[in-house]
Amino acid sequence: MREDITGVDTGSGDTWASGDYARVGNLWLLVGELLCEAAPVRAGDRVIDVATGTGNTALAAARRSGVVTGVDYVPGLLERARVRAAAEGLEVTFETGDARRLGHPDGSFDVAVSTFGVQYVPDHRGTAGELLRVVRPGGRIAVASWAPDGYLGELLRLVDQYTAGAAGPPPPTLWGTAKHMEELFGPHVSALDCTERQWRFRFRSPADLIGWFRSYFGPLTVAFDTLDGDGRAALTADLTRYVTGHNLAGDGTVDVPSTYLEAVAVTPAG
Ligand SMILES: C[S@@+](CC[C@H](N)C(=O)[O-])C[C@H]1O[C@@H](n2cnc3c(N)ncnc32)[C@H](O)[C@@H]1O
Repeated sequence: MREDITGVDTGSGDTWASGDYARVGNLWLLVGELLCEAAPVRAGDRVIDVATGTGNTALAAARRSGVVTGVDYVPGLLERARVRAAAEGLEVTFETGDARRLGHPDGSFDVAVSTFGVQYVPDHRGTAGELLRVVRPGGRIAVASWAPDGYLGELLRLVDQYTAGAAGPPPPTLWGTAKHMEELFGPHVSALDCTERQWRFRFRSPADLIGWFRSYFGPLTVAFDTLDGDGRAALTADLTRYVTGHNLAGDGTVDVPSTYLEAVAVTPAG
């Protein structure tokens, strides 16, 4: 655990400062766009994008004329988000903060969104509580989370197995199950809709995909840095077996599906 990135308890922010998350996030721009449609984000809505990274979903909300705040605990990612907003001429407030203690009063937002973000915060219940707290009565919470099955879910399970193991925090992919969403949000909301969607990872070859994730996707970069030579070889073999076994492309390239859950909750009207 690292406590020093922002001066607040920053959990494992060093994981996301590793690799080059900007490149990874660019892959799934469409997921944030779809999430803003599902929420939906309407013109003038006050929107908070929690664990915004380089701003994918915050920017999608701003394209819909929301009044948007993006929060993340890795300042370097927020810098990239600001550059992207400026390039598009979009106004978004990007601020350093912790998803576990959002620095906003109760009911400050009409909509809270998070794409593959809050699922990585170890305290699931506390994080869900923060989303519920900052959204006004009758507001919406829309969250996209990788599910346990599919490429990303499997990758995260392997990383966990090779690093934290059974003693680690609850798996992030629990957020990708309707059951967990029901447990976290069900008792506190007036409606909860969960939709399974698929993202397809397309790369030139299995080695291309694995090398790319190893270089840029923080959790895998850190796992490879932590392991010794045998561990790295074993993890590479496991990933290759998975990618090859689930590859839908028949021409040597990669087309691997990854399931995620899109959950939209409505808070009770005041
Ligand atoms: C996979 S990235 C997703 C980023 C972005 N939402 C997107 O769709 O590209 C996960 C993000 O969660 C952020 N994060 C994880 N735990 C956090 C916490 N406790 N507070 C704030 N941000 C956090 C990381 O810094 C990282 O930017």
